[in-house]
Amino acid sequence: MAASIVLPLLLLLLASPSLSDNIDFTYNGFKSDTNLSLDGCAHIISNGVLQLTNNTYKVTGHAFFSSPIQLLLNTHSVTPAAISFSTTFVFDIITIGNGGGHGLAFAMAPTKTLDGSCCNYLGLLNKNNSGNSSNHVFAVEFDTVQGADAFKDVDDNHVGVDLNSLISNVSKTASYYTNNSQMVNFELESGQPIQAWIDYDGVAKILNVTISPLSVDKPSRPLISHTIDLSPILKEYMYVGFSSSTGKLSSSHYILGWSFRTDGVARSLDRSRLPLPPEPAKASSISKAAGIRIGVISSLVTLVLVALAFSVSWNLWQRAKLAETLEDWEIDYPHRLPYRDLYKATKGFKETELLGSGSFGLVYKGILPRTGEEVAIKKISSNSRQAVREFVAEVACLARIRHRNLVPLQGWCKRNEDLLLVSEFMPNGSLDTFLFESERCGLLSWDQRFKILKGVALGLVYLHEEWEQVVVHRDIKSSNVLLDAEMNGRLGDFGLAGLYERAGNTRMTLVVGTLAYMAPEMSRTGKPVPSSDVFAYGILLLEVACGRRPIEPSAPTRMLLLMDWVRDCKMKGGLLEAVDPKLGRSYVREEVELVLKLGLVCSQSIPEVRPTMRQVIQYLNGDVNLADDVALVF
Ligand SMILES: *[C@@H]1O[C@H](CO)[C@@H](O)[C@H](O)[C@H]1NC(C)=O
Ligand SMILES: *[C@@H]1O[C@H](CO)[C@@H](O)[C@H](O)[C@H]1NC(C)=O
Ligand SMILES: *[C@@H]1O[C@H](CO)[C@@H](O)[C@H](O)[C@H]1NC(C)=O
Ligand SMILES: *[C@@H]1O[C@H](CO)[C@@H](O)[C@H](O)[C@H]1NC(C)=O
Ligand SMILES: *[C@@H]1O[C@H](CO)[C@@H](O)[C@H](O)[C@H]1NC(C)=O
Ligand SMILES: *[C@@H]1O[C@H](CO)[C@@H](O)[C@H](O)[C@H]1NC(C)=O
Ligand SMILES: *[C@@H]1O[C@H](CO)[C@@H](O)[C@H](O)[C@H]1NC(C)=O
Ligand SMILES: *[C@@H]1O[C@H](CO)[C@@H](O)[C@H](O)[C@H]1NC(C)=O
Repeated sequence: MAASIVLPLLLLLLASPSLSDNIDFTYNGFKSDTNLSLDGCAHIISNGVLQLTNNTYKVTGHAFFSSPIQLLLNTHSVTPAAISFSTTFVFDIITIGNGGGHGLAFAMAPTKTLDGSCCNYLGLLNKNNSGNSSNHVFAVEFDTVQGADAFKDVDDNHVGVDLNSLISNVSKTASYYTNNSQMVNFELESGQPIQAWIDYDGVAKILNVTISPLSVDKPSRPLISHTIDLSPILKEYMYVGFSSSTGKLSSSHYILGWSFRTDGVARSLDRSRLPLPPEPAKASSISKAAGIRIGVISSLVTLVLVALAFSVSWNLWQRAKLAETLEDWEIDYPHRLPYRDLYKATKGFKETELLGSGSFGLVYKGILPRTGEEVAIKKISSNSRQAVREFVAEVACLARIRHRNLVPLQGWCKRNEDLLLVSEFMPNGSLDTFLFESERCGLLSWDQRFKILKGVALGLVYLHEEWEQVVVHRDIKSSNVLLDAEMNGRLGDFGLAGLYERAGNTRMTLVVGTLAYMAPEMSRTGKPVPSSDVFAYGILLLEVACGRRPIEPSAPTRMLLLMDWVRDCKMKGGLLEAVDPKLGRSYVREEVELVLKLGLVCSQSIPEVRPTMRQVIQYLNGDVNLADDVALVF
């Protein structure tokens, strides 16, 4: 087969004036840097599958190579000539239930934002312009619906060549020729990947279209071999890509790989590198309309068996993937949530649901399927089963803590070595983004800042003194202060840092308790005590009042460490010089001074002279006066 195509094309290459910029690209999956322009429903799924439409009523999707491609030579002469091109791609049409629609098309068009309708128009053209020679649209359609009489479709499973019109110039029922010229019909929407080849010889003016299931090698005889001069249809530069639509009948239309080349044979796709579409194939679509279309009975049997095997193993795999693998001890702990729920809540831990990466692992947003509650789900990977067990024991315990300034832990779930922690979703994100990305989030007023700081202090008093056992937070920092809908400050991740350390993940512990917030005694004793939380809270006070990070590596030496700089300002009698310039003069002077001084008092290096969180509250509430002459022992 190769020789029969390559040879004429090579000769052609030598013969034709090489004035065009040859284009040659290959996508084995669409991972990154794709250079595709997408619109409508079209998008690239994280595993690299290009989805043109989802299974929704009357939608369209387009995906075009972003740069126009030269397809016509000698445009201004009396004999413009279409350039030879060759393309191959693998598509997969997945239909849920019986009968989907409407299909997809490989297209060349003057724009990449076609004004195409859904349904029979495949997103290519519309009722008003179909058939108009000023369209300059060339397409090869893979159509799974037999349209109204006006479309003259041969059936609901055909391949057609469309020139400016959805009434195909030529069309054939989907099938391929075996090497001994037997014709094998197959379903476009069987759910199995299908490969198509479209080759146009601009000199001989022959268009060949070949299709076969991906499991079959390229048939040597094309399904359609049609003599046609494309030069009146093509323009000098055109966009090349795909168009698809659904109607009352709908399917998900996917492209798994695509290769295109002008003046040469398109490079082969590497089957082993093609991604798979996300949804299961349904075996039921085999008998959509009356009449068996499969010419060779053995192929029907094979197809059905393959479809069934695929669907059975897919289902088993799906079920295994979501099955609970409970260990005996897990049953003893309350607040366990089923993995299936968390999987559903995050759409399968999909990248689009990621909120960010927290101190311990990735954080996803999710909606619990049973209650409809919005939650944040943190995925923590450990490297020891024993550690996970201890972790769960303590997490199950921490899940009982409830306080209005702490982010409630809703539950947990263990999955192999992963631990999933579910907490209430905080709609306004974390304090650090408000402090350092105010252009995006808006500026926090002084009143809001003061309220947040008081809230965090109350949360800490609860953890240190009021709950049934002493809980040291160990990881207080602005990114761990979350903001609820009323902009109250709430501490997240309480009690986890220490647990995590015991889980033996030493690399992570270095990150935990960011250096700047770490009390000096911590590096000596390593033992977390409430006063080390007070130190970190002191740094947080300074951060919020100054609107600066605890360490600013790019700042002049004097301002490198926030704590040193505030101290410096205080020594020089200009404490207010340290206040966040973004606040202008809109702050309560006494409160700002109190917060800055208290920040210094809390972050003293000797733990014994730091106040307790209860005393901190008294100072913040003005119940006790933080004497101006409080001795600071640095
Ligand atoms: C996308 O375009 C850039 C710049 O034109 C090019 O370097 C890159 O190779 C292209 N990527 C693909 C997948 O074609
Ligand atoms: C399908 O795509 C449309 C448009 O992109 C979107 O609004 C809709 O939510 C999607 N439906 C599903 C089931 O994903
Ligand atoms: C077709 O033209 C009619 C009359 O100009 C207009 O109302 C209608 O919206 C057009 N339809 C499409 C699909 O563009
Ligand atoms: C074809 O389209 C052109 C440009 O949109 C328009 O001017 C012309 O009237 C159309 N012809 C027919 C027959 O609809
Ligand atoms: C196919 O296209 C050719 C050239 O444009 C035209 O002459 C012929 O009538 C068309 N046939 C059909 C069935 O549309
Ligand atoms: C047809 O024959 C060619 C070579 O003779 C071979 O490479 C190809 O795999 C065969 N195709 C099928 C579908 O058997
Ligand atoms: C098209 O198919 C015919 C018949 O198999 C073949 O002779 C011709 O070389 C093919 N042309 C291209 C461009 O593939
Ligand atoms: C905080 O969240 C609530 C609820 O989502 C929202 O109405 C409010 O605008 C948010 N406030 C800020 C400052 O973003």
